Amino acid sequence: LKDVYRLELPPTADMHVHLRQDQVMNLVVPYIRRGGVDTVFVMPNLQPPITSVASALEYKSRLQAIEPQVNYLMSLYLHPSVTPDVIAEAAKAGIAGVKLYPQGVTTNSESGVAGDFVETYAPTFAAMEQHDIVLNLHGEVPGTVPQSNISLEELFLPTLKRLNEKYPKLRIVLEMQYDPAAQQLLSSNMCGYSGTITAHHLYLTGDVSEVDPHAFCKPIPKTPSDRDALLKAVCSGDPKFFFGSDSAPHPLLTKQGKPVPAGVFTQPYATQLVLLALEEATEKGIVDEKDVTQENIEGFLSLFGRRFYKLPEPELTGPRIVVKKTGETIPASIRSADGTLEVGISKSEATVFRIS
Ligand code: NCD
Ligand code: DOR
Ligand code: ZN
Ligand code: ZN
Repeated sequence: LKDVYRLELPPTADMHVHLRQDQVMNLVVPYIRRGGVDTVFVMPNLQPPITSVASALEYKSRLQAIEPQVNYLMSLYLHPSVTPDVIAEAAKAGIAGVKLYPQGVTTNSESGVAGDFVETYAPTFAAMEQHDIVLNLHGEVPGTVPQSNISLEELFLPTLKRLNEKYPKLRIVLEMQYDPAAQQLLSSNMCGYSGTITAHHLYLTGDVSEVDPHAFCKPIPKTPSDRDALLKAVCSGDPKFFFGSDSAPHPLLTKQGKPVPAGVFTQPYATQLVLLALEEATEKGIVDEKDVTQENIEGFLSLFGRRFYKLPEPELTGPRIVVKKTGETIPASIRSADGTLEVGISKSEATVFRIS
């Protein structure tokens, strides 16, 4: 990438986004295309959470009204009201997935699952397997970071294994933030099991909530070697890894309060931030220049996610995004036209690629 002046790519598919509702939604949704993205998997952790097909479809139509040039894949929030009948209805309506939040782990996860949910939700998981509805995992156990070296995410991995053993055809996406999960994914033969990787986990490490609230997210980024493992996964060409930005806007005023809400907002620069992270990692020798190929970039950013969700491939003759170096820098925030809402952007002031 180093000396690349111009790169042409298929539009990015961002398979994990938070687009919110009301004023935040109105502000954020018009920036999706700005980040080079034409397809998004929309998370259901609204207030109240999206737990019915009707509310998912209503949400979709609101998003489409703001920006019709984006393909919105909708999801339900796993909750007691998501019964096997609702799963059957969701499959008919083209809902793409169900998101599982363990209770209390992150923003709007209060209505998430608790206890032995592999057992309590057995009928729902079985219906999802039967109807080929994807299970999306926020793979973290609730609680505080343990003293030992094991993380809250590693503690979740046995649950993932159990789910796979019980429902071998259930297709699962795990949010990948750290090395052991990446290694497990690479070495496992679990069918239909994939991981999304964000842009910000490619350049953040550690808990920075005290120093930089805009860089605070869940799961918390781990060590430099975990970050490096993710960078390598991105340029591995392995279709199990695909892009999901987890762009998670919070109003600036909320971010400046206590407790700091988790969420890094990257949507306007989603593609650019991945490319920037790859460029920096190449310069530092973390990834090998020969692995940062056009093919691997296209696979990670656009093709592998679409294939996983069984979407058509972007046409070779279809619209492309053009990435150029122009010396543009990332602004600190975006603001609504009336100035009443401001949302801070991650990695502001970085010099970034321009997408047209
Ligand atoms: C957001 C939230 O609460 O995090 N709202 C939402 O998802 N329904 C917006 C906000 O931060 O206020
Ligand atoms: O950092 C995060 N923010 N992680 C999540 O899982 C949720 C998200 C949000 O909704 O703000
Ligand atoms: Zn999450
Ligand atoms: Zn998320």
